[in-house]
Amino acid sequence: MWLLLSLAVAAEPNAAAGAKIYAAECVACHGAKGDGKGAAAIAFKPGPPDFTTATWWGTRTDAEVVAAIRAVKPGSPMAGFPALTDAQVADVAAHLRSFRH
Ligand code: HEC
Repeated sequence: MWLLLSLAVAAEPNAAAGAKIYAAECVACHGAKGDGKGAAAIAFKPGPPDFTTATWWGTRTDAEVVAAIRAVKPGSPMAGFPALTDAQVADVAAHLRSFRH
């Protein structure tokens, strides 16, 4: 019973762990506030989306956000992050959601 419970807890996305991945891999383009205004963002058209708006979140399901982090999109500066584990992608997606206000 305790084992099952701790497995269930471990499977929950961890936004704090996701914040560390974000700081290492995403912040240069997506910005410290998740508003798409990272230092490198100016180079890209279209630029990174603004994760602080309910409007943007209204256009994507959670599954689509996870898929977008994984996908290697030809022609996009979003290189895709196939090396991240499923748990790490879920963590970083949880961190992205925390930017929304
Ligand atoms: C080199 C710059 C760059 C880096 C690094 C980067 N992104 Fe992006 N990202 C972009 C740009 C530009 C877009 C918008 C254009 C596009 O989707 O191709 C985007 C789009 C997205 C989207 C929206 C895709 C959609 O559904 O439209 C998500 C989610 C995302 N990025 C998450 C991340 C995460 C998480 C990381 C780090 C693990 C990351 N990005 C790293 C530049 C970057």
